[in-house]
Formats: sequence, structure tokens, C-alpha cells
Amino acid sequence: MRAAVLHEIGQDKLEVLDDVEAVGFGPGKVRIRVRATGLCHSDLSAMNGVLPQPAPFVPGHEGAGEILEVGEGVRHLQAGDRVVVCWLPACGACPACRRGQTELCLAGFMNAGTPNYKRPGGDLFGFAGTGTFTEEVVVDAGCAVPIPDDVPFDIAALIGCGVTTGLGAALNTADVEAGSSVAVIGCGGVGISAIQGARLRGAAEIVAVDPVPARREAALKFGASRAVSPDELPDAKQQVTGGEGFD
Ligand SMILES: NC(=O)c1ccc[n+]([C@@H]2O[C@H](COP(=O)([O-])OP(=O)(O)OC[C@H]3O[C@@H](n4cnc5c(N)ncnc54)[C@H](O)[C@@H]3O)[C@@H](O)[C@H]2O)c1
Ligand SMILES: [Zn+2]
Ligand SMILES: [Zn+2]
Repeated sequence: MRAAVLHEIGQDKLEVLDDVEAVGFGPGKVRIRVRATGLCHSDLSAMNGVLPQPAPFVPGHEGAGEILEVGEGVRHLQAGDRVVVCWLPACGACPACRRGQTELCLAGFMNAGTPNYKRPGGDLFGFAGTGTFTEEVVVDAGCAVPIPDDVPFDIAALIGCGVTTGLGAALNTADVEAGSSVAVIGCGGVGISAIQGARLRGAAEIVAVDPVPARREAALKFGASRAVSPDELPDAKQQVTGGEGFD
């Protein structure tokens, strides 16, 4: 099958190869036909070495598709189910999960550190234990989250990382309250979703900060009340050292 592969950290181009095979299928696993995948900034950061990732690897961790096959013991999924690939599923068993704070799950990646693919030339890793720039991926059944039939795959794929991270930042981490003022710095996939989360919570003022005009326009469409470039912000450092405007 085909997959886009980064051979070495620091390269800026992927090679599309057609001799790649997804490995690791067995009890507790599912094989997924990837129908759509997003590009998250973390993929780029893994490619350029900012985030630790062994190479060669298949980038991509925001994916959606259909279950092709389920391993022994997998009861909640079956072939044909439409799913989102979740690279950081909640384990359901750790103390955080048991008190209902699945966003603080301590289990970590289900698959990271183990090669997810092979080809005649050797093993390949999948980014964040997944690797969705490919036609098929094998993951732990907990990494496959069913979605309704009417959610298009290209939209569902984004829920695999950017949407969940941004919404989670607003709803869980910052716990935005109705009527509050929020600044979202960086309005890409994550920031736009944080803006939507703040909007959902009824924030009174949502200031989007991004140097790219198109991103600022998008932020306004997604619910920001104001969009500014970082250049337009007051010099925060000066305010702190000067002591004014910081009470
Ligand atoms: N769960 C996680 O921990 C998690 C998940 C997803 C993404 N991330 C990280 O979150 C960050 C954002 O990811 P993304 O996919 O939304 O990236 P993105 O590239 O889609 O968006 C980043 C945005 O930041 C803007 N930006 C650049 N410099 C800026 C500055 N000085 N001030 C304000 N804005 C600036 C860019 O113009 C761009 O619109 C990345 O670092 C990514 O690795 C973390
Ligand atoms: Zn857990
Ligand atoms: Zn991501």
C-alpha cells in the first residue's frame, strides 16, 4: 500500500512509497482504511526535529476512515464502522480517568516507540503511534472512536487532534466562564478551535492574535470578536518591568 514517508529528521519533503505494510494487527487492535487526514503543526515539528520522533516515519495523526478488521477481544467496533483516529485515547483505568478527568489520563501513547509499518528496506514508525499519511493504519481499539454516518471524513479527521486540543484548552484547561475575556494566540487549527470553545462557553470578548491576515479573517468567522496582529499588542515586557498597566 501507499504511504508518505520521511526518511530522516530535518528533511522537508516526504516520499510517497507503494511498498509499505501496516504491522501489529492482533488481539485488541483494529485495522483502519484511512479516508482523510489533516496536517497538524506537530507533524511539521516532528519532521524538523522540534518534537522527538524516531525516523524513518510516516507523519499524520489526525485521521478518519473505516474499520476493515477488528482483532480478537474487540467488542465495541466492527468492520465498516466509521471512526476518528485518536492518538491519545483515555485508558479508562488510571486515577484521572476514574475520577472523570480523561483529559488528564496518565497512560500516554498507546503505540509510540513501536514501529507501525514495514517495507522491504526496514521498519517505519508512525507519528504519535499512529501515522495517518497512509492508506491503512493499525492501532489499539481504544484509538478508534466511532462517528455518526453523516459526518464527512475530511471534517471528522480534524477532530483527531486540532479540534479536540483547542476545544479542550477552552473547555477543560482554561475552563472559560461566560462573560469572560479571552485572548487566543495563534489561530491555526488549534487556535480556531479554542476560539469556538470560548464562544460555546459564552465569553464576552474573544481576541484572536495572529500575524497572518487570512488567519485573522478566519478567526472572526469562527467567533472571535476582534482579531489583531502581534505587532498591534502593547509591549507586554515593558508593561511588566515598567509596573504600569499590570495591577
Ligand atoms: N495536544 C497537543 O499538545 C497539541 C495538539 C495539536 C497541536 N499542538 C501544537 O499547537 C501549536 C499550534 O498547532 P496548529 O496545528 O494549530 O498550528 P498552525 O500552524 O495551524 O497554526 C499556528 C498559527 O500560529 C500563528 N503564529 C505564528 N507566529 C505567531 C505569533 N508570534 N503570534 C501569534 N500567532 C502566531 C501562525 O500564523 C498560525 O496561524 C503547534 O505548536 C502544535 O505542535 C499541540
Ligand atoms: Zn487513563
Ligand atoms: Zn496534532
